[in-house]
Amino acid sequence: MKKIAVFTSGGDSPGMNACIRSVVRTAIYNKLEVVGIIRGYEGMINGDFLPMQSSSVSNIIQRGGTILKSARNKQFMTKEGRAKAAENLKNEGIEGIVAIGGDGTFTGAKIFFEEHGIPTIGVPGTIDNDLYGTDYTIGYDTAVNTVVEAVDKIRDTADAHDRLFFVEVMGRDAGFIALRSGISVGAEAVLIPETETYVDRLIEKLKKGWERQKSSSIIIVAEGDDAGGAYEVAEKVKAKFKHYETKVTVLGHLQRGGSPSAADRVLASQLGNAAVNALIEGRYNEMAGIVNRKVVFTPFEKAIKHNQDINQELLKLADVLSI
Ligand code: F6P
Repeated sequence: MKKIAVFTSGGDSPGMNACIRSVVRTAIYNKLEVVGIIRGYEGMINGDFLPMQSSSVSNIIQRGGTILKSARNKQFMTKEGRAKAAENLKNEGIEGIVAIGGDGTFTGAKIFFEEHGIPTIGVPGTIDNDLYGTDYTIGYDTAVNTVVEAVDKIRDTADAHDRLFFVEVMGRDAGFIALRSGISVGAEAVLIPETETYVDRLIEKLKKGWERQKSSSIIIVAEGDDAGGAYEVAEKVKAKFKHYETKVTVLGHLQRGGSPSAADRVLASQLGNAAVNALIEGRYNEMAGIVNRKVVFTPFEKAIKHNQDINQELLKLADVLSI
């Protein structure tokens, strides 16, 4: 193998740049040429390739976003789009790819390999932490810290005014951000898509808090919760429990930005390095992850289809500590 490519795709996450840096420098260390593909699959189809040197990734380890840009591309979902991408890669002499992204990225990579035989190793880059085959995804730790910083501030004002706040956090299909940040901020309740939400039960809990003169309450709502987003849940609660003045904050995309935490920088560096080494060893169609502090590889098929289970002990803990 003489030349590889790296790209980022799907929703960006803090630490993607640290991972690009690791891929580029590991490739150069191993005497491989390396190019960056701009805007993921879109750049593959348009032939948007950027030759990279060690200096191309200087001073990016601390930056959020992705210097290679990201996109969600529809053309790559067609056979013709993928054929064009393969032609461009072959003309460029690219023999292996590192794909940094989430399940959509890996679904594309798997089909692409089946049709065109270019080996790809995936690296989990998403704030949602919803991929099977790794304890943590790149960006998750930073996103949780961002939520915690924001909710601590909300708690100050909630307490000053005896208010009940519903804070909506990201997680279209998963409650990992909500659960971890909920425990970190001492939330009165955490509502996540993995468990059924009973508004009546939530009201019972709030009533108890009210009776013992709790001055503020914070409910963390994952955007994909079955009871609806934070606005919807707030309305349902307000209709039956009028004691508190209720407020809603949707944290939105600020959770995706910012300088990556040390944990995310280290994770990104380890996985970028492992992905290049895996390509050199002849591996393909697998995602690099870290389980119990060891690098492991999981077939794309499994990483995409199996859901990462929510930690039941943490779920119980959130409940016990919020009495
Ligand atoms: O990156 C994953 C995620 O953060 C989801 O939790 C969220 O629903 C989604 O991205 C929104 O991303 P976009 O606005 O880019 O479609």
